[in-house]
Amino acid sequence: MPFPLPRAPRPRPSASAARKPVRSSRGKRLVCTLAAVVTAASGLLAVGAAPPALAAGSTLDQLAEAQGRYFGSATDNPELTDTPYTTVLGSEFGMITPGNSMKWDTTEPQQGQFDFSGGDKIVDFAQAHNQRVRGHTLVWHSQLPGWMSSLPAGQVQAAMESHITKEASHYKGKIYAWDVVNEPFNDDGTFRADPFYNAMGEKYIADALRTAHAADPDAKLYINDYNIEGTGAKADAMYRLASDLKSQGVPLDGIGFQGHLAIQYGFPTNMRQNLQRFADLGLDVAITELDVRMQLPSDATKLATQADYYRQVTNACLAVSRCAGITVWDFDDKYSWVPSTFSGQGAACLYDENLQPKPAYTAVRDSLAPGVSDTTPPSAPTGLAVSGATDTSVSLTWSASTDNVGVSGYDVYRAGTKVSSTTSTSFTDTGLAASTAYTYTVKAKDAAGNVSAASAAVTATTQSGGGTGTGAFKVQYKNNDSAPGDNQIKPGIQIVNTGTAPLDLSKVTLRYYFTGEGGASTYSTWVDYAALGAANVTQKVVAMSTPKAGADHYLEVGFTTGAGSLAAGKSTGDIQTRLNKTDWSNFDESDDYSRGTNTAYADTTKVTAYVSGTLVTGTEP
Ligand code: XIL
Repeated sequence: MPFPLPRAPRPRPSASAARKPVRSSRGKRLVCTLAAVVTAASGLLAVGAAPPALAAGSTLDQLAEAQGRYFGSATDNPELTDTPYTTVLGSEFGMITPGNSMKWDTTEPQQGQFDFSGGDKIVDFAQAHNQRVRGHTLVWHSQLPGWMSSLPAGQVQAAMESHITKEASHYKGKIYAWDVVNEPFNDDGTFRADPFYNAMGEKYIADALRTAHAADPDAKLYINDYNIEGTGAKADAMYRLASDLKSQGVPLDGIGFQGHLAIQYGFPTNMRQNLQRFADLGLDVAITELDVRMQLPSDATKLATQADYYRQVTNACLAVSRCAGITVWDFDDKYSWVPSTFSGQGAACLYDENLQPKPAYTAVRDSLAPGVSDTTPPSAPTGLAVSGATDTSVSLTWSASTDNVGVSGYDVYRAGTKVSSTTSTSFTDTGLAASTAYTYTVKAKDAAGNVSAASAAVTATTQSGGGTGTGAFKVQYKNNDSAPGDNQIKPGIQIVNTGTAPLDLSKVTLRYYFTGEGGASTYSTWVDYAALGAANVTQKVVAMSTPKAGADHYLEVGFTTGAGSLAAGKSTGDIQTRLNKTDWSNFDESDDYSRGTNTAYADTTKVTAYVSGTLVTGTEP
């Protein structure tokens, strides 16, 4: 019996009615649960009734159907023998597209000789799993049989009409939508010079649509292309074509936006607005071949960006009422076409090669039904440190949190009150009172609204107001010692005035933390070079009363009044310090708190700085 089309809207899934209707041996639909029978029998929910709660275990398609959309996947015949794969394909998705078996080279390999066996198997699979099918594709420049590509121009129209008629008639009543014409444009918006355009000009498109409509009047008819997701010359060309066809009364129902995206190329510009302008022509729109590839190997950062792209596409479709649904071009990295097509790229799908869901999967679910699927908060931010303080401001930095889907931002709290939301990992709190201690914590958020625990608190004291010595500054460090196990420690240190006022260096001290290991507990210190004059730099080694991890001593660097004041924007320049134990026994520097391995100057928070004895930048161990 033919697959019934057009389909009645599916009952909205609910926690209790989430199972799918199945077919009896006579082909009549049975419904598995009493709740589903009631929902189906009563038809639409009463206006104003609360939508049924979606279970966390709902499939992608159920979540999408609850929003009036479908969620589909491409598939291909070889993988239909892979049971773990078909288990996911048959359950998560409500729409499937044959990746190859309805293309011209497969269905009409010799002129007039048709083979629909591959496509039939996909349709059988779909019907057995209560899924709909997008037919792909009738007229396309690629995967054409040799005879077609070399047909004399005068025979192309008849061959095209015959092919469309045969194939669309074969599948009549079984196809939700046909990609009648695929990829008609070049990237600059000119028509692609394929056999159809070369023989017939632009009018091949209207002719193909009319021919398909005559063969299967109930199927929705689409033109499909890539690189039209965002605004641009190619999207504009498609828009002009779609407007013309609509105004001419050509049977065009929708535009398919393939959605083959790549994180290294950025997210399409104004995707939602672009979809909307096509919808405003009275057309359906659909995302027909979504995947988001990346340069391999993948890592957590790339997967988070990918998840964000999938989320944004889903959000865009949900924001456009005529967006019918989303199809991914393979749901899994196991069978994705990407690695064999784009050299060095892959990991483009919602599931990995072992058919395990990736962050992108959760991101899509979360877009479809916020809060239903992603209940995992990000990790608490670590490394919260004061990177500077003036008489009116405190600057903070922290380390990025991680999240199962992606961190969307951070909230900064001063004394428990939120003072900022930011997407970066630093913040400057302004408008503060001088000589006042402020305590901060930071929490991370994800797009589902999950909030992390608070970071460890950090306290900063603003400088005393007025006069010199109060400007913001930062400390930079480099390692001048390539041998971490020898008998000397050689930190390079400099100060950069990042404020607007001169900095009175005589009020500034710096601490470089290290462990002394065994041997003598007395030290010698040296200034091998200082751009502002070695004689203007003072040093001493102080034993800490409470040793910390990586620190039982620190080298304190200070400045004489002869060092003068450091003008706004200026650096002290290179200061090369060195110390040793008086018995010249060896250190093990590898665990030292303040040590870095950078041999060029870089900002550090592990060499702490004080003005008049008050910590103003850096984090003590
Ligand atoms: C791809 C298939 O996934 C591959 O298996 C095949 O080798 C090449 O075609 N745009 C389309 C799809 O419209 O038909 C293409 O499918 C991917 C790009």
